[in-house]
Amino acid sequence: MRFLSLLWQLGLLFTIRCSLLITGRNDCVIKLDPKSGIKTADCGNRNLTSVPLNLPTDINILDLSKNLITYINSMDFKRYIELTEININNNELKLLDAHAFDILMLKKLHLSSNYLNVSDSYSGNVFHSASALIELDISRNMGLDNCSYNQPVDYRLPGDRLKHLQVLAIDLVCLPKFSTSFRMLRSLKTVRFDTCFISHMSNQTFRNFPQNVKELYIKNCKKFFVVEINTLKYFPSLRILDISHTHINLIQALKLLYPFQNKTMDLINFHHVTVDNTEMYPYDVILTPKVMEYISTICIKTLDISDNNICSIRNKSLILFQYPKCFQQLILSANSFGVGHFVADFAKFIYSMTNLTLLDYSYLPLEYRNPHFLQYSQNLTTYKDDSNYNNSYDVYKTPKTFYIPKNLKHVRISHVMARNKIGTVCISNSSLEILDVSYYDVDTFPKITCDGYCNLRYLDISGMDATRTFGKFPILRNLTTLKIAHSKLYKLIPKNVSIFNWTTNLTLLDLSHNYLWYVGNKSFDGLHFMNSLNISHNMFQTVPRVIMSFVKLTELDLSYNLLSSLEDYFTIWINAQYKQFGSFKLYLQGNALLCACDTAHFLAWIFVTKASLDMDRNYTCRMHDGENNFTANIIKDYHTYFASCNSELWMKVGVSLLTAMCFCIVCITLLYNFRWKIVFYFHRKFRKIVEKGLEVNFKYDVYLSYSDDGASFIKKVLQPTIERRWGLRMCCEDRDFGVGESNVDIRASSIQKSRHIIFVITPSFITREWNRFEIERAKYEKFAKDLQKIVVIVYKTSLKNTPTELSAIWNDVCVIEWPEEGGELFTVWQKLRLWLF
Ligand SMILES: *[C@@H]1O[C@H](CO)[C@@H](O)[C@H](O)[C@H]1NC(C)=O
Ligand SMILES: *[C@@H]1O[C@H](CO)[C@@H](O)[C@H](O)[C@H]1NC(C)=O
Ligand SMILES: *[C@@H]1O[C@H](CO)[C@@H](O)[C@H](O)[C@H]1NC(C)=O
Ligand SMILES: *[C@@H]1O[C@H](CO)[C@@H](O)[C@H](O)[C@H]1NC(C)=O
Ligand SMILES: *[C@@H]1O[C@H](CO)[C@@H](O)[C@H](O)[C@H]1NC(C)=O
Ligand SMILES: *[C@@H]1O[C@H](CO)[C@@H](O)[C@H](O)[C@H]1NC(C)=O
Ligand SMILES: *[C@@H]1O[C@H](CO)[C@@H](O)[C@H](O)[C@H]1NC(C)=O
Ligand SMILES: *[C@@H]1O[C@H](CO)[C@@H](O)[C@H](O)[C@H]1NC(C)=O
Ligand SMILES: *[C@@H]1O[C@H](CO)[C@@H](O)[C@H](O)[C@H]1NC(C)=O
Ligand SMILES: *[C@@H]1O[C@H](CO)[C@@H](O)[C@H](O)[C@H]1NC(C)=O
Ligand SMILES: *[C@@H]1O[C@H](CO)[C@@H](O)[C@H](O)[C@H]1NC(C)=O
Ligand SMILES: *[C@@H]1O[C@H](CO)[C@@H](O)[C@H](O)[C@H]1NC(C)=O
Repeated sequence: MRFLSLLWQLGLLFTIRCSLLITGRNDCVIKLDPKSGIKTADCGNRNLTSVPLNLPTDINILDLSKNLITYINSMDFKRYIELTEININNNELKLLDAHAFDILMLKKLHLSSNYLNVSDSYSGNVFHSASALIELDISRNMGLDNCSYNQPVDYRLPGDRLKHLQVLAIDLVCLPKFSTSFRMLRSLKTVRFDTCFISHMSNQTFRNFPQNVKELYIKNCKKFFVVEINTLKYFPSLRILDISHTHINLIQALKLLYPFQNKTMDLINFHHVTVDNTEMYPYDVILTPKVMEYISTICIKTLDISDNNICSIRNKSLILFQYPKCFQQLILSANSFGVGHFVADFAKFIYSMTNLTLLDYSYLPLEYRNPHFLQYSQNLTTYKDDSNYNNSYDVYKTPKTFYIPKNLKHVRISHVMARNKIGTVCISNSSLEILDVSYYDVDTFPKITCDGYCNLRYLDISGMDATRTFGKFPILRNLTTLKIAHSKLYKLIPKNVSIFNWTTNLTLLDLSHNYLWYVGNKSFDGLHFMNSLNISHNMFQTVPRVIMSFVKLTELDLSYNLLSSLEDYFTIWINAQYKQFGSFKLYLQGNALLCACDTAHFLAWIFVTKASLDMDRNYTCRMHDGENNFTANIIKDYHTYFASCNSELWMKVGVSLLTAMCFCIVCITLLYNFRWKIVFYFHRKFRKIVEKGLEVNFKYDVYLSYSDDGASFIKKVLQPTIERRWGLRMCCEDRDFGVGESNVDIRASSIQKSRHIIFVITPSFITREWNRFEIERAKYEKFAKDLQKIVVIVYKTSLKNTPTELSAIWNDVCVIEWPEEGGELFTVWQKLRLWLF
């Protein structure tokens, strides 16, 4: 006790940002928040099998989550009369005593992820005295309920007692029966169903719910169930309807909105409600005016219909909404539709959403692997209706220009393939701050203009050929973050013209994955505010000197380049930066660091510099004998490795000068004779490093797409050389496709597993049914990783006979017109080999 009181006094002495910790006998941690005076006992994750009885009696919050408690008896909480919050999530509760929670003050009770059966693990009495309860969570308890017993299951909650209950989370059993006492839950605002076994939701299911519910969540119900059209009519005040990941099909979900016609909703979240799990509704969702009948009359602030396999939109039904001004956030991503046939109307529609702040139109129209979904807030600000803002459609005199609605802050149009018809995007005087158009696969990138002020501060144009986006942007003084990864910048930078002079206020620049090996001094002119630079995954052998002109740089990513060490002047500069700003982050992983006498200085620096380095400063490095070791190991034995460096130095110089001369002569001869081999060797080595870094593992080297009349060419000409002589592995459909596998799946996965793809265009190729699919896949893989090469071999036909889909990506394709014979053949083979290695 004396010890405790001493601690107590100590705690008072340090008045206090951190809270006071006392470790009790059963290791529960008691914390006192000095500001609010709330005392918390943290007993989580301690293998407890019962409620500890030796805690201070004045605790307010008790956390018992992740233990092994099976039963709560009437005495367990009796002594903790000041408890307001109990968390027993993730235990093994099977039974609750009727008086378990006879604590009048209890406000929040969490019993999620246990084994409490709604019908027989507790009686309604258990909550009788918990009349102060505001939040009750008994979700994820019914582990199994497969509708095998055809009995309605009673939900025994004493509505008349739980007068203050606002949030109720519970499981939805197969045949739920909510008693009339639910009507008396007068404060109930939020209902969450997180696990469900229901097979049919009828007009009667929620009959007894109080009318004041504002938020309804029916999430993660993976089993299809039928919903009657008027099921939700008992929730007239509903503002949030979230059924994301509940697989009832988008068409049926849209019917669910029947009772909300002409109303206002804050959020309708139908994210990923369509899967291929029922005969009743087709997996391919087609939007028609009929399907959109109810939703189009609702004033919706946030609408999310992403990831639903919407394949087609008939009669412009996507833009039939009667209240476009209500929209604040619109998420349409990861579907399969295009708006190409009504793009002008779509643009007008977007423009008419004057309150819109977030537009997410990404991962369209192909199916992309692992799309990334945005987190958007459910907290919306209301915008002032700015009546001066001229948003009449008059500005649309030139349909080729797209105007950004005034309040739009965040636009993501990423991973989209489209034929672009919009020539100019005007962002003047809008609120646009974040624009992500990465991997936007269009023929021409529109010109962005800004006549007035522009607020853009974040721009991502990764994944597009930089030559296509270069020069398309106006001067953007407010831009601080620019990402141009995967964009073949190597085509631009060596020209040594200033390529960032339109955005000189950048603080963060990402230039990774660009095959850069050189940066001229001029290229980065004017970037005086740069804080963080990422040039990882390039081919730098030395750190470009221009970096030292970034006087404010404190973070530099050099990982996955070809650096063997850092020069002294550069390490000195880093130290100076650290001294000035108090921090410097440097990433060096994945380089070709050398552990030898000439780099000894650098190795020592790694371990003494105050700058923070990645990998705990332990990098792989190559020794002079060719073995690999780790910098941390080497530095431990620094003296054994490097003691002899200096004394040997002069002798070495002499000897090496002599040998160097002979060597040079030999080398030049060898180099000339083996020039192809050497080129291949380094090319291949480099690719391997890059691929390892990307963690891609290719099963095949080449995927071959060909039609019947190309088969013999493959067998007689390509295969012997590519497979037998060069040792590359080919994937040919006749040989490598297993029997019985779905054609689409195996094609897609084989293309994904191949390093490159070759289209062999023969006279009948154009009529082949798989062309389009394979070309689309190839395009996708290429843009997703930008490693693969697409090679087109035109054999016994003319270039005119290539499918149009291919000509759309002409820039990214290597074309070989196969010669009949003769000297050209040799060049063609060498070309092919260089591309494929
Ligand atoms: C709980 O029990 C498991 C299994 O017996 C054991 O691995 C774990 O370390 C225990 N945890 C604590 C906090 O005692
Ligand atoms: C819940 O209790 C009912 C009635 O006792 C029983 O039929 C059902 O099987 C139980 N469910 C689970 C998941 O244990
Ligand atoms: C329901 O669950 C029981 C117990 O696990 C099992 O025996 C029965 O086959 C299941 N019924 C259905 C229709 O899945
Ligand atoms: C449910 O309500 C809708 C609309 O009121 C009605 O058309 C439908 O027949 C009802 N279903 C049942 C089974 O009563
Ligand atoms: C919605 O409003 C329209 C036009 O004001 C009206 O014709 C329609 O009957 C209303 N629908 C419902 C369900 O109230
Ligand atoms: C939502 O709004 C409330 C009140 O305005 C604020 O306290 C809360 O931090 C907001 N939450 C988020 C995630 O922005
Ligand atoms: C924006 O939305 C609010 C309601 O959320 C509405 O009152 C206002 O008229 C809208 N503003 C515009 C410009 O449409
Ligand atoms: C940058 O943003 C500020 C505040 O939003 C704005 O006032 C200013 O005009 C913008 N600057 C430019 C050059 O557009
Ligand atoms: C940026 O540099 C390029 C090439 O040097 C030049 O053509 C362009 O006019 C410059 N832009 C600005 C805004 O200075
Ligand atoms: C941007 O750069 C200009 C000069 O080019 C400077 O006057 C302005 O203050 C900078 N703005 C910000 C937000 O850094
Ligand atoms: C450095 O990393 C390697 C590989 O992870 C490890 O084997 C070695 O023990 C590490 N060396 C030190 C000193 O941590
Ligand atoms: C790496 O260096 C350590 C320390 O000198 C040494 O013990 C170890 O054998 C070396 N490993 C290899 C693979 O050379």
